[in-house]
Amino acid sequence: MTSLSSSTTLAERQSNPQRPLVTLRGIQKSFGPTHVLKGVNFTVRPGQIHALLGGNGAGKSTMIRVITGEIRANAGDLHLQASHGGDPKVAVVYQELALIPDLTVAENIALVHAPSGFALKRQAQAALIAEEALSLIDPHLARTALFRKAGDLSMHEGQIVEIARALSTGAEVLLLDEPTANLTAAETEQLFAVLKGLAKDKGIGIVFVSHRMKEIRQLCDVCTIIRDGKTAIDARPIGMLTDAAIIQEMGQPAHRAEAQIARNDGQPVVATLTGPTIQHPIQRGTILGLAGAPEGPAHVISSLIGHGRHRDWCMTGDGWGNAPTSPRDAVAQGIGFVSGDRATKGVLAQLPIIDNVLASRRVRERRLFVGQNERSECAGLMQALKVKAGSAWDRPGTLSGGNQQKLLVARWLGLPLKMVVFEEPTRGVDIGTKRDMYALIRQMAEEGTIVVWWSTENVELLELCHEILAFDTEGQPKGFLPADRFDEDALAELTGMAA
Ligand SMILES: Nc1ncnc2c1ncn2[C@@H]1O[C@H](COP(=O)(O)OP(=O)(O)OP(=O)(O)O)[C@@H](O)[C@H]1O
Ligand SMILES: [Mg+2]
Repeated sequence: MTSLSSSTTLAERQSNPQRPLVTLRGIQKSFGPTHVLKGVNFTVRPGQIHALLGGNGAGKSTMIRVITGEIRANAGDLHLQASHGGDPKVAVVYQELALIPDLTVAENIALVHAPSGFALKRQAQAALIAEEALSLIDPHLARTALFRKAGDLSMHEGQIVEIARALSTGAEVLLLDEPTANLTAAETEQLFAVLKGLAKDKGIGIVFVSHRMKEIRQLCDVCTIIRDGKTAIDARPIGMLTDAAIIQEMGQPAHRAEAQIARNDGQPVVATLTGPTIQHPIQRGTILGLAGAPEGPAHVISSLIGHGRHRDWCMTGDGWGNAPTSPRDAVAQGIGFVSGDRATKGVLAQLPIIDNVLASRRVRERRLFVGQNERSECAGLMQALKVKAGSAWDRPGTLSGGNQQKLLVARWLGLPLKMVVFEEPTRGVDIGTKRDMYALIRQMAEEGTIVVWWSTENVELLELCHEILAFDTEGQPKGFLPADRFDEDALAELTGMAA
């Protein structure tokens, strides 16, 4: 089914610089009984930045894996051709991080340059390649992280290393599956400048998968929308489609146009958030956003759930007791947590979906036996977040990235918690489900739970939160922004980052 064409002459190819680098025609792919791709068409052209869009589970990552050859389609044509003939070099940033934890950053980057491992023997050379690659998007990381083990990087640093690695391969086709889901606005901006340069000056063809509408518009020229396993919109200039049209073509419910200001006026103060330079009253049912460079929010979160080294923040007040000493202790105290690193710290990969969804309930309620009503309980929670799955008994690894993310959030819904701490809970979640998640979180807050919500997406914080604690690029707290002063520019100024 793969046809690597050699039927065109060099003269023909040179006379048509717009000849596609990648062409998919009528591609079909099933996983067991699940028919995912039912005949998709897709074209990647040189110099073009192409958004590949669709709801969670639509088949975007599957298409990318077909293009890279990681999986084989059941039917259809895949056609790859470099602009100067032959096979184009294809580089990919996968949706889940794919660094080798025991190797250093330099080694991880050099690996793709010398798959035989020769570069590993030449540390100095590996370091040079890696430094050059990282300098493209993060000179600071290039200076400080080359000899750290990849396993010790934060999610966010790991993501930058992966992107740098892909960019540095000199590939003619770049496939980026939600590469910005962990990046701050400033980093995203820097990345976009590099990507635009590669497309414009070098004629690289770029495929960009994202659920962040603002970014898609900032970066992409055209978009293809996948729905029900077919191509609903094929390489349409993005300026020709409104947000509403894109959402509709994805088959997602339309949402209200105007965001309302979140309010919890008049609620009693039930806790004090204390940090190195801050003491701040927290009302019942507050949704507190954390914004800015990742270090600051990460310290708050690790203090609040008793994980890692940092203990410099705490909630105090009636009924708050001692700060948790471990995540387990936090759960025992009625504090829930969703890790931003779903692959290694969230999803229980060996257990079926139902166990993943019910994990927190079982711990909290000390259930000894799997309850009769658990099936319907699980079904209800999955339905609330529109989890797309074959069966509750499947392993989470069979779910798309966004659907795995929903499992983690579903775990805490409707529980009588004192506080729940979310690290990027909507990472990779599609536009329609994000709204559902916001509504469910608001409901938890209305029932009295304090919600701490870290997002690298400022527009999300502004839409959802009652107040936002902003950190500067040094990780220092800059102050609280109340809902009636919410504004993208104000937040950008406080965090020292572009909106
Ligand atoms: N190995 C597998 N076994 C069974 N089903 C799978 C497997 N891989 C993917 N699927 C199914 O294929 C469908 C498409 O998944 P895919 O990961 O391509 O979605 P996606 O568009 O990338 O979604 P997201 O936006 O959430 O990342 C999903 O319903 C998923 O459950
Ligand atoms: Mg995906």
